[in-house]
Amino acid sequence: MTLRLSVIGTGYLGATHAACMAELGYEVIGVDIDPAKVEILQSGRVPFYEPGLPEVLARNIAAGRLRFTTSMSEAAATADIHFICVGTPQQSGANAADLSQVFGSIQALTPHLRAGALVVGKSTVPVGTAAVLAEQLALTAPTAEVAWNPEFLREGFAVADTLHPDRLVVGVRSQRAEDLLREVYAPLIAQDVPFLVTDFPTAELVKVAANSFLATKISFINAMAEVCEAAGADITQLAEAIGYDPRIGNRFLAAGLGFGGGCLPKDIRAFMARAGEIGAEEALAFLREVDQINLRQRTHTVNLARAALDGSFAGKNVTVLGAAFKPDSDDVRDSPALAVAAAILNAGGNVVVHDPKALENAARVYPTLTYVEDLAQALADAELVLHLTEWPEYREFDPTTLGSSPRQRHLIDARNRLDPLVWRASGWTYRALGRPTA
Ligand code: UGA
Repeated sequence: MTLRLSVIGTGYLGATHAACMAELGYEVIGVDIDPAKVEILQSGRVPFYEPGLPEVLARNIAAGRLRFTTSMSEAAATADIHFICVGTPQQSGANAADLSQVFGSIQALTPHLRAGALVVGKSTVPVGTAAVLAEQLALTAPTAEVAWNPEFLREGFAVADTLHPDRLVVGVRSQRAEDLLREVYAPLIAQDVPFLVTDFPTAELVKVAANSFLATKISFINAMAEVCEAAGADITQLAEAIGYDPRIGNRFLAAGLGFGGGCLPKDIRAFMARAGEIGAEEALAFLREVDQINLRQRTHTVNLARAALDGSFAGKNVTVLGAAFKPDSDDVRDSPALAVAAAILNAGGNVVVHDPKALENAARVYPTLTYVEDLAQALADAELVLHLTEWPEYREFDPTTLGSSPRQRHLIDARNRLDPLVWRASGWTYRALGRPTA
């Protein structure tokens, strides 16, 4: 019999998981409290930019394997395995995660659960959450069970990461839960994807440990970039050279403006907060430094920009290339690019922001910035250009098409991806983070 799954929460994680599970052949129902989102998804469209996802979604809706609803009771009644994919944002005014969506969705689901249902958490949660949920479920739906199955997908590669993950991790308390999840992921296990079975806390910790490691790797190379700048050395050559050591590896070693998005920043903060609660605060003290190094890249970029404009932004035309927190995404959550753009606007600059995909989302968060869709137009009057999100089209852009300018124009490449020779040849001054000035 075909497995019937529900996916609760249809953001980046849930919409992708629902579409990809249907792609594996299962009957999937996606649930969200937002009727507008459900309507868009049900019509076969994706309410955010994720390459490849619209095709998978539309194909599976057309095949009748995938549908979306706002009705939790309908989802509970039609599925035996429920994946919790709701958000766990940072609490406002605190480092800890806000778990209201996790607890709220499970509370809404529980009264309608079928006997023997499996509730599988995928959201990133503080260690200990699965055990609390299991206790609650034991009281309200005694035949149902909890499992934890963290998600490692990257925005921009969400479909590939779901259908061809590096590994699958399941935290379970029974053989039955393990068997059910082995059945769900059988097509991936058959492709030799490692399948690791753990207890609840280990599964929960794997996720935050992985994101902490990635954040640390980025802040490490950015700390080296600061030293390179002080010493007159070149961070891109340093990163390439250390990256050849396979123990270090060259991925996630791109120095620049640092990390943002809906995951790494809030996950390391929530991890520190949780470690404090369980008496392991000291073990994660280094993550505070990781966070600070990361935020320092933003201030440093603003300072370099001010220096390029002779010490003041007042009345100066500054063009920011990039609004998304990374390329191939329209996500602007904790976007380093927008943080820098907003700081320069506040300091009196005339800031124009360009991004191939994220302008609508950016305008919602920072309505006072000026957004321009055409790249050449965005660059036309710039005295200073800041390259803050490394979309391929910025690297491909030919600065000679901008013609010559009566005044000196400056470029700061905060992602170390543009070609200094090309820009300098067109009369621009070029400055990058962690590299010699000339
Ligand atoms: C991250 C993790 O990579 C995923 O494995 C994880 O599943 C996900 O969070 C999550 O917790 O849901 P994501 O937030 O999509 O994925 O973005 P990343 O590709 O990890 O990039 C994060 C940030 O680091 C971006 O702002 C990017 O510009 C920055 N970055 C990345 C660097 O500054 N340097 C690098 O070398 C790599």
